[in-house]
Amino acid sequence: NIVRREDYLAPAYWIRTVDLTFDLDAAKTIVASKLFIERNLEQMEQPLRLHGEDLNLLRVLVDGQSVSFRHEDGMLVIDAPQQSAFTLEIRNTVAPEKNTQLSGLYASGSGLFTQCEAEGFRRITYFLDRPDVMAVYTVTLRGDKQKYPVLLSNGNLLEQGDLDNGRHFAKWHDPFRKPSYLFALVAADLVAREQRVRSRSGRDHLLQVFVKRGDLEKTEHAMNSLVASMIWDEHRFNLPLDLERFMIVAVDDFNMGAMENKGLNIFNTKYVLASAATATDADFDGIESVVGHEYFHNWTGNRITCQDWFQLSLKEGLTVFRDQEFSMDMAGSASARAVRRIGDVRSLRERQFPEDAGPMSHPVRPDAYQAIDNFYTATVYEKGSEVVRVIHTLVGQQGFAAGMALYFQRHDGFAVTCDDFAQAMADANPYSPLAHNLDVFKRWYSQAGTPRLTARGEYNAANATFTLYLSQHNPALPGQNDKLPQLLPVAVGLLARDGTALPLQLAGEDHAVGTDRVLVMTEAQHTFTFVNVQADCVPSLLRGFSAPVVLDDGLTDADLLVLMAHDTDAFNRWEAGQRLALNRIRAALNSDAPAALDDAFIEAMRAVLNDTRLDPAFKELALLLPSEVYVADQVTGIDPQRLHSVREAMVDQLATALHAEWEAAFAANQVRAGYKPDAVQSGQRALANLALTMLVRHASLTGDTVWPGRAYQRFKDASNMTDRLGALEALVNSHSELAQPALDRFHALFRHEALVLDKFFMLQGRAPEKDGRVFARIKQLMQHPDFTLTNPNRARSLLFALTAGNPAAFHRTDAAGYVFWADMVITLDTLNPQLASRFARALDRWTNLAEPYRSAAREAIARVSAKADLSSDTREIIDRALAG
Ligand code: ARG
Ligand code: ZN
Repeated sequence: NIVRREDYLAPAYWIRTVDLTFDLDAAKTIVASKLFIERNLEQMEQPLRLHGEDLNLLRVLVDGQSVSFRHEDGMLVIDAPQQSAFTLEIRNTVAPEKNTQLSGLYASGSGLFTQCEAEGFRRITYFLDRPDVMAVYTVTLRGDKQKYPVLLSNGNLLEQGDLDNGRHFAKWHDPFRKPSYLFALVAADLVAREQRVRSRSGRDHLLQVFVKRGDLEKTEHAMNSLVASMIWDEHRFNLPLDLERFMIVAVDDFNMGAMENKGLNIFNTKYVLASAATATDADFDGIESVVGHEYFHNWTGNRITCQDWFQLSLKEGLTVFRDQEFSMDMAGSASARAVRRIGDVRSLRERQFPEDAGPMSHPVRPDAYQAIDNFYTATVYEKGSEVVRVIHTLVGQQGFAAGMALYFQRHDGFAVTCDDFAQAMADANPYSPLAHNLDVFKRWYSQAGTPRLTARGEYNAANATFTLYLSQHNPALPGQNDKLPQLLPVAVGLLARDGTALPLQLAGEDHAVGTDRVLVMTEAQHTFTFVNVQADCVPSLLRGFSAPVVLDDGLTDADLLVLMAHDTDAFNRWEAGQRLALNRIRAALNSDAPAALDDAFIEAMRAVLNDTRLDPAFKELALLLPSEVYVADQVTGIDPQRLHSVREAMVDQLATALHAEWEAAFAANQVRAGYKPDAVQSGQRALANLALTMLVRHASLTGDTVWPGRAYQRFKDASNMTDRLGALEALVNSHSELAQPALDRFHALFRHEALVLDKFFMLQGRAPEKDGRVFARIKQLMQHPDFTLTNPNRARSLLFALTAGNPAAFHRTDAAGYVFWADMVITLDTLNPQLASRFARALDRWTNLAEPYRSAAREAIARVSAKADLSSDTREIIDRALAG
């Protein structure tokens, strides 16, 4: 059963108000629902069909009278009542403790929590569980006061008090109309960090972060991030907090990062809890961005929501764009902003590009799905954010703010579409290239696949012109053949060979316009001629990654070295180095000779390490070779084992040739000040950790014991998790003899810290493979007393570390990795289909593998597909994979 975008119909009924009463109990919760419903007179008269899943129905009343009903295609069907407006009362029960899917109402530890997006509300009670049905909710929670001292739902607390038998109640009212996916409740034994803040408007708000007892001191960073998000959204977009009370609740068992339920965000503990001793700099960054993301959804997602789930990127792409901008603004310096941008692009290329080239490829606004949960993807989120960034580039920061204002003026309080958003942006900027080419722009919403951009430049000394030939190609995909050109903003600069930035004057213009500008492509081919170009030059194209495309600029090594040394655009400086490295990895893959880096490349890397003007954070990114995951996507017919040995040999070479520089970098980047997870300190820690890894790696090649000893000492003495984990990883990754004692010590120190135990597993799961040892270790760790598949973070820590982070451990010539994968998909699917279907995607790109991997992967996929009773989530992934 496939749902199609073109089949969208407005609902036949509207639900105006919802009155819910919960008698909470982990084994059996009773749900009483009273709905005020009106017929949608624009639709044909028809029975009322309500969604419901895994519910036990007790009774149905219409206007107080019992009525007949039936179950049809998994829906509860009630014949159309005589009246066009009526009250529907439903009573049903659910079993939270049996809900291992973690969708709907479920138990985690001793508490009860909900997750409703996308279609979890139907697992709580019968409802029109679709985002265009928006209602005002009043919720009464009743439960044991000892077990559930805290009872929360959306909106404002109306009253609370004691009941008989040791029970108590709380009654909540949310004044904002909302779709059911934004409903939430929490009943648990929690404590809260509280802060009162006044918004610019002068309104007072109460912010609360709820966690388990004992975790309160780990909530400071989350609270600071929440306050910062609030201030940022007011300043940048004029969007104030619209609630008296804003709550965040952390829960151990959670399928994804977090959820933006109106006024009651529910978070994976991973994105709330942090202390210097237990969380890394990356964890602190993750908290800031996810707290921001969920907070920003309050406007982009909640105040304006999606008409249907095909429009998911309307809220997700836009909100990712907002959280990325927030993190960049928080990072401070231009260099720190660029470091964030590089990180975002790296993850787009490693996760979204392969997705867009494989069997799950779909447009930012998909056209069809079987299980909507499968479309919470890197394409909808990260590519969706890049598409919003394209708008931002085309209309500028002010134009974008004006577009947002118009968007809210038109659509506040409604469920709308991606087209509505683009239209508001265009209408607010009528003279922009966006408005002039709106239809071309919208192809980003309808066409899947990563566009290929080819650029060639030609300098003519006699005329002092530089001609740039740009062409784009949008590769055909199954179901998408004749694809049209897309709207690509191409940010460019021209660098003379000595590094000077040249003024940019296009033919026909009477003067130069700066040294950095945006060319707009709307057709397959364009020619741009720059005049008064006084020197031969190297084009710096797609600066800041101005469009999510694969660029072939035909630059030589010599050209790339100019960019790497001089580009004023930090992103392209980094990119030039990555391109040099990628060219070398490719060449090595196409030859049987042992991989060897040339002196020119090594000297360029040495120059980066020695360059005192560059920030440590940038150096760390520049010195990392492109990952195996990224390279595998850039090459056809990949042999993961060969790739691994090529890349490892090159890293060994960098470790050896730059030994003195690594020593110097390690020494120069010791942070002596008190721990702060800011961009400056974390950049220093990142570079020191990379240097240490290289030094310990070098020692493992020479048999030297000094650096492993130092790493062990640093691991023991570290005053923060970033340093401790960095040192531990240096030992584990080089398979040092000190690795096991360090791991044992690490486990003993942190055995009561769930989030640190996740790191304990993950770091072993993603260690560079050597002779099959890492894979064997992973299988062994599955039996560890602290390992479990029922907690998603823990399951991911080993399983996803293998399949998403460790290609050489996973893709084995004996197929053992695939056999393991197939077994785990089948096991997980009976427990948690959302988690299983995520894990199932590990073999998406099997058709791009060389033999014998390719056939073995196909066989594993076929084995899973042969299981008759797969969930629809996993079925969709597996069958698409099998079709190639
Ligand atoms: N809206 C949430 C967020 O962006 C994620 C919800 C994911 N839901 C799902 N079924 N995968 O933070
Ligand atoms: Zn989101």
